[in-house]
Amino acid sequence: MSKSERSDEYLIERIKKGKTGAMPAYGEVFNDAQIGALLAYIRGLDD
Ligand code: HEM
Repeated sequence: MSKSERSDEYLIERIKKGKTGAMPAYGEVFNDAQIGALLAYIRGLDD
């Protein structure tokens, strides 16, 4: 996903809210710092 055209804001909202029928919401599971760390990890996966 490091090559994703999606903005950081879009990916953060997707992690927090999930997607109905596809992905669970993580907004009540992880705090903002943890979600920021997940985003950094995802962005680095293809490096
Ligand atoms: C901490 C755990 C997770 C993180 C950080 C995460 C992150 C993400 C992100 C950022 C996207 C958006 C990708 C994009 O639109 O470019 C996504 C999509 C998706 N995730 Fe997750 N995810 C997690 C766990 C899960 C789990 C447990 C499932 C399934 C049981 C799941 C299923 C999906 C699916 C099916 C999509 C595609 C949704 C669509 O746009 O149709 N994810 N995930």
